[in-house]
Amino acid sequence: MKIFNYLLMGGWLLCIPMPSHASLIQEKKCSECHRLSKDGNEKIGPDLFYAGNKFQASWLKQYLQNPVTIRSAGGTGDPDFLKGTQADSQRHPALSKKDAGQITQELMELILLDLPEKINHLEPLTKGQKAKIKYEFERTFSCISCHQSLNLAGKVRGGISGPSLVNAGNRLQARWVESWLKSPKTYSNKSRMPIYKMADETRLRLTQFISTLKNENKR
Ligand code: HEC
Ligand code: HEC
Repeated sequence: MKIFNYLLMGGWLLCIPMPSHASLIQEKKCSECHRLSKDGNEKIGPDLFYAGNKFQASWLKQYLQNPVTIRSAGGTGDPDFLKGTQADSQRHPALSKKDAGQITQELMELILLDLPEKINHLEPLTKGQKAKIKYEFERTFSCISCHQSLNLAGKVRGGISGPSLVNAGNRLQARWVESWLKSPKTYSNKSRMPIYKMADETRLRLTQFISTLKNENKR
């Protein structure tokens, strides 16, 4: 009978959630500045509830240890947007390597949509295709008026009202970029990003072009 009571108690103890199993994202209070689910209003930092669709894990792990400025004019949810204050993005909390690794894993599990894997593995653009799509990025669609990117000489060029795309090839998943260009409203109904009507082919080429933008190509 005594043994039976111990067993009961043991079972009960197992049901108490142990702090070591709690999510580190919650423990670090990331949700004070970021939405981790689609509910509620946008916060001062960019949404993370689709982080597993959007980011490359290797970039996240680096960023969380050594945050860099991506939106030098602030973000959509930032009350100081375009006031040039930068204050909040420059004070991003930095994590230890261990915590950054764990939080990266937790972030990569935040998936909103099932996006086609094959877009992450498209053939690279030929030189001719790249020159043409780059012209469209800069002139036809004027993406460059809001986004920093690299010109043919590898110099940083472009506006700052949108997030910098200079390192987008290391930072973003191609399939997410394609999906974002097709329908920014899927991710944010407050988006300032224009919705472009373009052929699927053009959208894929733009996505491929964005994948070539990397810090290591900066001159
Ligand atoms: C005080 C507010 C604040 C807190 C707390 C905070 N962040 Fe941020 N975070 C921001 C802002 C603002 C940006 C945008 C910076 C920029 O674009 O230059 C950002 C950017 C990011 C980005 C890049 C997102 C993107 O779309 O480019 C990631 C990833 C991120 N934060 C993760 C986290 C995690 C994980 C935590 C918890 C450990 C956290 N943040 C805590 C304000 C915060
Ligand atoms: C009028 C300014 C504007 C123009 C023009 C513009 N964008 Fe954007 N874009 C934004 C803003 C602002 C965001 C940040 C999210 C938001 O607020 O919607 C964004 C977000 C993005 C993102 C996601 C980046 C991230 O890290 O979250 C990509 C990729 C992008 N734009 C690509 C493009 C491309 C390609 C073009 C041209 C076809 C373009 N944009 C034209 C303003 C613009």
